Amino acid sequence: MTICRTIVGTGLLATGLAVSAQTTGTPPPAPAAALSYVGSETCKTCHEEIYNNLQKTPHFAIETGARRGWAQKSCESCHAPGSKHAESASADDIKNPAKLSAGDVDRTCLNCHLNEKTPVGRIASGHAKDEVACTSCHSVHGAGGAKLVDHKKPDINAKCATCHVSQWASFNRPYKHRLQEGAMSCVDCHNPHASFRADSMRASFGNEPGCLQCHSDKRGPFVYEHPVQKLEGCGACHEPHGSANPRMLARHNVADVCLECHSNLPIPSAKNAKLGGVPPAFHDLRSARFQNCTVCHIKLHGSYVDRTFLR
Ligand code: HEC
Ligand code: HEC
Ligand code: HEC
Ligand code: HEC
Ligand code: HEC
Ligand code: HEC
Ligand code: HEC
Ligand code: HEC
Ligand code: HEC
Ligand code: HEC
Repeated sequence: MTICRTIVGTGLLATGLAVSAQTTGTPPPAPAAALSYVGSETCKTCHEEIYNNLQKTPHFAIETGARRGWAQKSCESCHAPGSKHAESASADDIKNPAKLSAGDVDRTCLNCHLNEKTPVGRIASGHAKDEVACTSCHSVHGAGGAKLVDHKKPDINAKCATCHVSQWASFNRPYKHRLQEGAMSCVDCHNPHASFRADSMRASFGNEPGCLQCHSDKRGPFVYEHPVQKLEGCGACHEPHGSANPRMLARHNVADVCLECHSNLPIPSAKNAKLGGVPPAFHDLRSARFQNCTVCHIKLHGSYVDRTFLR
C-alpha cells in the first residue's frame, strides 16, 4: 500500500528505482518518505564551523534538550531530514531557508516559536504581511559576526535603518528622540513582531501606547481628559520620530496645532472627523497674547482639577 502511494506520488519513478534509491542512495530523487534524520554529529563532519557557531547561540538548547524532541538533531529541526544530502553533499537535497519564500521561512521558525508569551509568534505585523522574514532580522548562524538577537540599541537601529531609510533620517531633525546618539532604539516604541495597536506600536499597560512607559506623567487617569490623547494618540499633535518644531510638535506654532480642531469647523462628518470646542469669544486670536495656548492651558495632556486644563 505504501509503495503504491509512493509510485503514484512521484509519478515517474519505477518501483525498482525507488527501492534502489532507498538502499544504495543512487541519484534519481528518492521519495520524501525515504528521508531520515542522520543527527547533527553527521552534519558536523562537513559543517564544523557552523556547528561550532550554533553551539554559542541559544538555539543549542534544541541540540541538548530532550524536552523539545530534537535532541542530537537540531540541524534538521530547521533543515528537515538530511540523509540524502549527507550522502550526496548536493545543495539540491537539503532545505535552505535562505532560498525559501518569506512565508515559508516564517513557518519554519514558527514550528517552535508559535504562541510564545511575547508577540513573537504572532504573524499579524506589517512585517509578516510585507514579506519581511524572521531571518531579515535574526541571523541563525551568525554570518559576518551577526548575533541571533540584537540587544544593543545602536545595533537594533542600524538593522531597522537598512530598510527604513527615511524614518532613520527623520531622527536627524532639530527636535527628536535621541536614536542617532544611541540613547534609544526603534523597539522602545515599536514591537518588531506586531501589536494590537496601529503601526506596530509597543503597548505598555493594557493597550496604552508605549510612550507612557517613559512619559508616565501623561498617563492619568485624569479627572479631565483631553480626549485626543486616547482617541487619536500622541501622534495627533507630535511627530515622535523627529520634527522641525520645538516639543516635536506637528506645527510650528502651538496655536496652529490646537486650531486644527478648535476652530469654526463645519459640522462633524465622515470627511471631517476631528472636532473640539471653539475657544470662547474672549480669546482674541489676533492678539499675540492668545497665540501660545499652552501659556494658560498648561495641563493640556489632562488635568486633575480643571475642565479647561488651566491647572
Ligand atoms: C559529506 C559532507 C556533508 C554532510 C555530511 C552534510 N553536508 Fe551540507 N553541504 C555539504 C556541501 C559540500 C555543501 C555545498 C553544496 C553546494 O554548494 O553545492 C553543503 C551545503 C549545505 C547547505 C546549503 C544548501 C544550499 O542551498 O546552498 C545546507 C543548508 C546544508 N548543507 C545542511 C546540512 C545539514 C543540515 C547536514 C546534516 C543533516 C549536512 N548539511 C550534512 C556537505 C555536507
Ligand atoms: C533555528 C534554525 C536553524 C538551525 C537549528 C540550523 N540552521 Fe542552518 N540555516 C538556517 C537558516 C535560516 C539558514 C539561511 C541563512 C541564514 O539566514 O542564516 C541556514 C543556512 C545554513 C547553511 C548554508 C550556509 C550559510 O551559512 O548560509 C548551512 C550549511 C547550514 N545552515 C547548516 C546547518 C547545520 C550544520 C546546523 C546544525 C549544526 C544548522 N544549520 C542548524 C537555520 C537553521
Ligand atoms: C526546533 C525548535 C526551534 C526552531 C525551529 C526555531 N527555534 Fe528559535 N529558539 C528555540 C529555542 C529552544 C530557543 C532558546 C530559548 C528558549 O528556550 O525559548 C530559541 C531562541 C530563539 C531566539 C531568541 C534568543 C534569545 O536570546 O532570547 C530567536 C531570536 C530565535 N530563536 C529565532 C528563530 C528563528 C529566526 C528561527 C527560524 C529560522 C527559529 N528561531 C527556529 C527553538 C527553535
Ligand atoms: C523587523 C525585524 C524583526 C523581525 C522580522 C523578527 N524579529 Fe524577532 N526580534 C527583533 C528584535 C529587534 C528583537 C529584540 C527585541 C527587544 O530587545 O526588545 C527580537 C526578539 C526576538 C526573540 C526574543 C525576545 C522576545 O521578544 O521573545 C525571539 C524568540 C524572536 N525575536 C523570534 C522571531 C521570529 C520567530 C520571527 C519571525 C516570525 C521574528 N522574530 C521576526 C526583530 C525582528
Ligand atoms: C528587510 C527590510 C526591513 C527591515 C530590516 C525592517 N523593516 Fe520595518 N518594514 C519593512 C517593510 C517592507 C514594511 C512595510 C512597508 C512600510 O510600511 O514601509 C515595514 C513596516 C514597518 C512598520 C509599519 C507597519 C507596521 O504595521 O508594522 C514599522 C513600525 C516598522 N516596519 C518598524 C521596523 C523596525 C522597528 C525595524 C527594526 C527592528 C524594522 N522595521 C526592520 C521592511 C523592513
Ligand atoms: C518615540 C517613539 C518612536 C520611535 C523611537 C520610533 N518610532 Fe516609528 N512611529 C512612532 C509613532 C507614534 C508612529 C505613528 C505615526 C503617527 O501616528 O503619526 C510611527 C510610525 C512608524 C512607521 C509607519 C510609517 C510612518 O513613517 O509613519 C514606520 C515604518 C516606523 N515608525 C519606523 C520606525 C523606525 C525604523 C524607527 C527607528 C529608526 C522608529 N520608527 C522609531 C513612534 C516611534
Ligand atoms: C524609552 C523612553 C521613551 C519613549 C518610549 C518615548 N520617549 Fe519621548 N522622550 C524620551 C526622552 C528621554 C526625552 C527627552 C529628550 C531627549 O532625549 O533629549 C523625550 C522627549 C519627548 C518629547 C519632547 C519633550 C521636550 O521637552 O522637547 C516629546 C514631545 C516626546 N518625547 C513624545 C513622545 C511620544 C509621543 C512617544 C511615543 C510615540 C514617546 N515620546 C516615547 C524618552 C522616551
Ligand atoms: C492635543 C495635542 C497633544 C497631544 C494629543 C499630546 N501632546 Fe504632548 N504636547 C503638546 C503641546 C502643545 C506641548 C507643548 C507644551 C508647551 O508648550 O508647554 C506638548 C508637550 C509634550 C512634552 C514635553 C513637555 C512636557 O509636558 O513634558 C512631552 C514629553 C509630551 N508632550 C508627550 C506627549 C505624549 C507621550 C503624548 C501621548 C500620550 C502627548 N504628548 C499627546 C500637545 C499634545
Ligand atoms: C485632534 C483634535 C484636537 C487637537 C489638536 C486639540 N484638541 Fe483640545 N479638544 C479636542 C476634543 C475632541 C475635546 C473635547 C471637547 C469637545 O468635545 O469639544 C477637546 C477639549 C479641549 C478643552 C476642554 C474644553 C471643553 O469643552 O471641555 C480645551 C481647553 C482644549 N481642548 C484645548 C486644546 C489646546 C490648548 C490644544 C492645543 C495644544 C488642543 N486642545 C488641541 C480636540 C483637540
Ligand atoms: C490668556 C490665557 C489663555 C490663552 C492664551 C488661551 N486660553 Fe483658552 N481659555 C482660557 C480660559 C481662562 C478658559 C476658560 C473659560 C471658562 O472657564 O469659561 C479657556 C477656555 C478654552 C476652551 C474651552 C471652551 C469651553 O468649551 O468652555 C478652549 C477650547 C480653549 N480655551 C482653547 C484655546 C486655544 C485653542 C488657545 C490658543 C489659540 C487658547 N485657548 C489660548 C484662557 C486662555
